[in-house]
Amino acid sequence: MRRPMVAGNWKMHGTRASVAELIKGLSDQALPSGVDVAVFPPSLFITQVIEGLEGKSIATGAQNSAVEPQQGALTGEVAPSQLVDAGCELVLIGHSERRQILGEQDSTLILKFAAAQACGLKPVFCVGETLEEREAGKTLEVVGRQLDSIIGQLGIKAFADAIIAYEPVWAIGTGLTATPQQAQDVHKAIREQLAAQDAEVAQNTRLLYGGSVKAANAAELFGMPDIDGGLIGGASLNADEFGAICRAAGN
Ligand code: PGA
Repeated sequence: MRRPMVAGNWKMHGTRASVAELIKGLSDQALPSGVDVAVFPPSLFITQVIEGLEGKSIATGAQNSAVEPQQGALTGEVAPSQLVDAGCELVLIGHSERRQILGEQDSTLILKFAAAQACGLKPVFCVGETLEEREAGKTLEVVGRQLDSIIGQLGIKAFADAIIAYEPVWAIGTGLTATPQQAQDVHKAIREQLAAQDAEVAQNTRLLYGGSVKAANAAELFGMPDIDGGLIGGASLNADEFGAICRAAGN
């Protein structure tokens, strides 16, 4: 059985004061024991979050990491080994905002994925189509290609210790959520793509849905057979809302 997971992507939000408040709010949440819960603060706040959530079973991840595993001369970047040293367990790779706004290409994402795993940091690899691609009927082709870029270079076993997040770009931060069936259709295709190479990896890899998930729609999405939880943006900045989404994953 795959253990459900709910991850909060805080994006470029927060001040020391608001992060302290969010930590307090999260500490007060009753979280279901059967769900893996994680938060992804801006790098600046990772230490504050890890220290503030000590004793609470919430993992911390980074929103980005460098193409090189070890520290070195790479201005502005944070090495996966440094994130591990800080207490991070996970890292987002290929979020659509980084693909689209920062121009991150598949070739860069492959390096980041490999560097993260080399340090024992678990990648949460994000895939998803734009509205234009969906309307052109290219959703599965686009997502399949994004996934294949990793499988082709790093092999299917790379996903034995990674998580995949399907996030349709048109649903991120827009209030438009994929219907549970739309999301399930893509998740099923992703699992089949993994299964074509390795049935065990396909069976065990967690596939999260992201894109305007809220407490009000979480249960329905998480009820689909191939949706193993969510990657939550906006709603993860509200501890009560995020806690409710985590509880929905536990039911
Ligand atoms: P959203 O963001 O929940 O605000 O749509 C999801 C994400 O970008 O991970």
